Amino acid sequence: MMMKILIQSVIFSLIAVLLSTAGDVKVIYAKVGDKVTLTKPSHKKLDNPYVYWDFDSNLRIASLNSMGGTMYIQAEPWKNKLALSGGSLTINNIQAGNFGTFFCTLTSGLQTVSKTEYKIIQINVSANPAAPLLPGEHLSLSCKVQTPPSAKPSIHWLNPLGDRVKDNKETFTITATNQHNGQWMCVVTHDKTEYKYPISVTVVGLAPAPSHLYTSANSRLTIPCSIPSSMSWKEVNSTGVQEVQWHFLPKSSQSHTSDNRQRLFHLSLGDKLTWKTDDGRGLQHTDSDVMKGNLSLYRNKGRKEDRGNYTCSITFKNGMILQRTMSVEVLQIFPSPGTQLISGQQLNLTCSTGNPLPSDVQLKWFPPQESSIPMPDPHRAHLNNLEVGVSDSGMWRCELWQNSKCLTSAMITLKIEPKLSVWMLVIIGSAAVIILLLLVLTFILYRRRQRKTRYPRHRLCQCKNPKPKGFYRTT
Ligand SMILES: *[C@@H]1O[C@H](CO)[C@@H](O)[C@H](O)[C@H]1NC(C)=O
Ligand SMILES: *[C@@H]1O[C@H](CO)[C@@H](O)[C@H](O)[C@H]1NC(C)=O
Repeated sequence: MMMKILIQSVIFSLIAVLLSTAGDVKVIYAKVGDKVTLTKPSHKKLDNPYVYWDFDSNLRIASLNSMGGTMYIQAEPWKNKLALSGGSLTINNIQAGNFGTFFCTLTSGLQTVSKTEYKIIQINVSANPAAPLLPGEHLSLSCKVQTPPSAKPSIHWLNPLGDRVKDNKETFTITATNQHNGQWMCVVTHDKTEYKYPISVTVVGLAPAPSHLYTSANSRLTIPCSIPSSMSWKEVNSTGVQEVQWHFLPKSSQSHTSDNRQRLFHLSLGDKLTWKTDDGRGLQHTDSDVMKGNLSLYRNKGRKEDRGNYTCSITFKNGMILQRTMSVEVLQIFPSPGTQLISGQQLNLTCSTGNPLPSDVQLKWFPPQESSIPMPDPHRAHLNNLEVGVSDSGMWRCELWQNSKCLTSAMITLKIEPKLSVWMLVIIGSAAVIILLLLVLTFILYRRRQRKTRYPRHRLCQCKNPKPKGFYRTT
């Protein structure tokens, strides 16, 4: 594969200089507009030969003397097209009248040392229509050698994927699809050597996007929709854009009827492209990117209600619709019985989008750093009957991974109280009761004391000076 690319790139760089020998004649294939260099044959014995370049055997078009002086023909169609470098002749921007037979003659003194023949053969590579086209339209590709040499080269085509087109024909017509967008290659085989002529075809389409997108309340939601980077909006618009819209169909609606379909945005196709908001659902778009063909929507944080299908569509005047539907899934962590727990309690955690995950999507749990709960491997959506402790308090994270790429992550904060706090409640309760009892006791004692101080004489009288029984005052 690497070798193939390497060889291709080498050949590419030589497009203008495609030399091969047919017997003694060097054959070069070129397109109108190419820059072609005819290399002077090397001759070891000659130090500074005279070099003469002739067209069609009798028209001298350029020469180089032994002192390095050059001469160029000043007549059309050669004027200002030729350049000599070390005796080799370069023809810039070759046109119809410049194709044909060339001779390079080397002389030393009056003696002709060598005479080499070159043939520049015109090759026409074209696509019809040359303008961008819509899928479904007919596309003709043609690769023709204008003046076939005695040994006609064989010609075949490679599609943008690099596969050989079945019918080995110079010209063929196909119904365009998105796979036909890209660089086609006409391959000319001459004397067992392949020469490649690229031609670009633009079949308007939308860039590939994943069918499922994942977001969460903690991560960004981007719903991509754009034309391929190889195209410009101008090219797409040239094919007759009538309408560009975004629609949303919530996941909750079971019946996929268009009744539930909401239009989110539509593009106003004036001189300046601007989005008009219908039911935008808080989603945003980048207006500056629209001219580049980026129709993507985004929001910095996902929401539970974002679940559903989003459709981006471009309707053309001929009735064709290019569209891409993406299903958005929202990742959530569901705790049972809740996020506030007491040490020792059983906890179930579920990380889910509400739908089964595709087989190539993996889930990973990240408990708080201090947590000592071992995570199962491979990670499962349900973590059941976890016996939580205080150290499991904090942020629990669950991530979705696909081919070493994190799709999204959801988070939840657990608060786990020590079990002791129940006993503490008991202790506090008991303490309160004791204090209450003490208060009551103090109160009773106080009351009793008060009563004693209110009738001190009576008590004295009663106790210290009791009236002697049978004793009467006589005064
Ligand atoms: C399109 O715009 C979105 C939102 O700004 C951005 O995230 C995304 O990378 C852009 N895509 C392309 C292909 O430029
Ligand atoms: C946790 O899941 C298990 C198994 O599904 C179940 O028996 C148990 O009742 C669940 N516990 C809680 C607190 O939801």
